[in-house]
Amino acid sequence: MKKILLSVLTLFFVGCNSSSTQQHTNLDGKKLLEQKCSKCHNLDLPPKTSEDEVAPPMMAVAFHVKDFMQVSNESERLPKAKEFVKDYVFNPSASKSLCDKKSLQRYGVMPSQKGNLTQEELAAIAEYIFEHFNVKNLNEAQAIQNRLKKMAPGKRLAIKYGCLSCHKGKKDLVGPAFVKISQKYSLEDIQKSITNGSSAKWGTKAIMPPFKTRIPQQDIATLAKWIKDANSF
Ligand code: HEC
Ligand code: HEC
Repeated sequence: MKKILLSVLTLFFVGCNSSSTQQHTNLDGKKLLEQKCSKCHNLDLPPKTSEDEVAPPMMAVAFHVKDFMQVSNESERLPKAKEFVKDYVFNPSASKSLCDKKSLQRYGVMPSQKGNLTQEELAAIAEYIFEHFNVKNLNEAQAIQNRLKKMAPGKRLAIKYGCLSCHKGKKDLVGPAFVKISQKYSLEDIQKSITNGSSAKWGTKAIMPPFKTRIPQQDIATLAKWIKDANSF
């Protein structure tokens, strides 16, 4: 279980969620969405909202559009929602908009994006929107956020920078257990080791790469302190 969480968290940080959006096309819907729509729509999951936002967050759009489609059979819902997006982005209007009156007044009707992207690009975006912004992914993202919030900052960084692929708190892995390192060194020395790397000090052939070009000094300090305190592994 721990292992699964770890890899989910790593994925979350690395952000390389290799999406399979390319069902009908080899265009990257995720990238296109960022390029063409993020100027106005917030793309976070869970979404960020603000007083002065100029458009609803994309997650709200996705949920909203899907909910509003009138279908006689649930299997039509997704295809219809995609068709709506493909039409609306090029031909928006107050009468077509599914926003309530108040929101529409607040944002104004979306300007047509004709000329900013091709029909194929829009199709790839529509595919991606509904694949990504759904209840399952929202729940997962929220669960990860909650766990990260509860985590010590040092541990968060250890996940982010891949330390935990070679180290564990209490047991040796590729590298020595953090508790042993904590007992052996001062805070300063731990910081130096992370910065410059290490080899041949622990009776293993494996070496510890230097991190000075990869991790900002401030994060190295936080990591070192977390290892030295050694109470939240
Ligand atoms: C210049 C700002 C702007 C850009 C760029 C933009 N939008 Fe919008 N969009 C809006 C605003 C404002 C609204 C809300 C008013 C409305 O419904 O027209 C909106 C609404 C929508 C809606 C309808 C939601 C509903 O509930 O009716 C969809 C679908 C949509 N946008 C998709 C996109 C996609 C996809 C892109 C990128 C290709 C995009 N938008 C780019 C401003 C923008
Ligand atoms: C590729 C595997 C690997 C990764 C990734 C890794 N380490 Fe290490 N680490 C090691 C090994 C192996 C050693 C023992 C090296 C030796 O024998 O001197 C070590 C030793 C250390 C030491 C003690 C160094 C010394 O001077 O004795 C510290 C502190 C440390 N690691 C922290 C970290 C932190 C923090 C990270 C993440 C930023 C990290 N390590 C990532 C393999 C790794």
